Amino acid sequence: MNLLITGGNGFIGYNFTKYVLANCSDCEVICLDSNTYAANIVEISSSRYHFVRGDIRDGALVGGILADYDIDRIINFAAETHVDNSIANPNLFVETNVLGTAVLLQKAREFWGIGGDNLYFQVSTDEVYGEIDADGAKFTEDSIISPRSPYSASKAGADLLVKAYFDTYNLPVVTTRCSNNYGFYQHREKFIPLIITNALLDKPIPVYGDGNNVRDWIFVLDHCSALWSVLTAGESVVGKVYNIGANCEMRNIDLVKFILDYLKKPASLITFVEDRLGHDRRYAIDATKIGTDIGWRAESAFETSMIATIDWYVARYGERK
Ligand SMILES: NC(=O)c1ccc[n+]([C@@H]2O[C@H](COP(=O)([O-])OP(=O)(O)OC[C@H]3O[C@@H](n4cnc5c(N)ncnc54)[C@H](O)[C@@H]3O)[C@@H](O)[C@H]2O)c1
Repeated sequence: MNLLITGGNGFIGYNFTKYVLANCSDCEVICLDSNTYAANIVEISSSRYHFVRGDIRDGALVGGILADYDIDRIINFAAETHVDNSIANPNLFVETNVLGTAVLLQKAREFWGIGGDNLYFQVSTDEVYGEIDADGAKFTEDSIISPRSPYSASKAGADLLVKAYFDTYNLPVVTTRCSNNYGFYQHREKFIPLIITNALLDKPIPVYGDGNNVRDWIFVLDHCSALWSVLTAGESVVGKVYNIGANCEMRNIDLVKFILDYLKKPASLITFVEDRLGHDRRYAIDATKIGTDIGWRAESAFETSMIATIDWYVARYGERK
């Protein structure tokens, strides 16, 4: 497999790159990443790994990579991902997430032509489904696409382009929509790293609104194993969408308390701040289909993996008190 991983220096992309190199001895991995502020700048020393710094919107660059490395699989993680930033600067999200995906799809189509054992894999999010009430049914792959933030709208736009390339050009594609990830190598602006690093400094922990918003959490390595299962499942996944989740719903306030308890920090650090504009109330993923079709299910226990995550950030940032 000659695999192009776009956004491979980001939180999930970097974990996935390491996962592939560890689990596939005959995979050549090409990482294309523009190294935005969100990227991890880390070395991967493997003769099967090649890094290209560049932008997914650069069609000439993307086309050159596909040809030079004879790419037969593309998995697209590259995106602007922080909802708060999307509220401040929505156009950047449209440019990277929608236009970037459009360039990748078009270059894949031009390079692969018709037929062949190829796959374009779009890594998407449950946020494209919008929000659900506290007692509403979980999102399935048939839930309507109803994004509510510029971030999720740009991801939804990209998902629809992927669908269009399948319906119109028969490009072999698959899309996954995962719930919120936690784990190693996530940027400090995101909720869990922010809680941990602020707590370590005894700084206030900002919690939006009343803290009762519910997120459905999955350990990043479970997400990676799900992506790998889909990537290697063969032709049966082509044209399909799979939800990925670990049945782990939690109120934001309870997550903050769990982390503070573990770090032995006082709940008085919690500071409720004005709610995010259009803040989605609850996400919850029904991941039955990926289990039935491919046999994947999440394996990590929340407490164990969350503690490993906290320990990782403490080891990385703890000494900067
Ligand atoms: N983090 C989550 O909980 C979560 C959940 C479900 C889906 N996703 C999706 O997974 C993907 C990865 O998310 P993440 O949390 O790892 O994101 P991230 O922000 O940590 O990483 C994104 C990476 O993309 C790169 N990038 C950004 N714009 C680029 C461009 N124009 N060209 C090339 N590279 C570019 C960045 O440099 C960075 O390395 C995203 O598509 C996101 O929508 C994330």
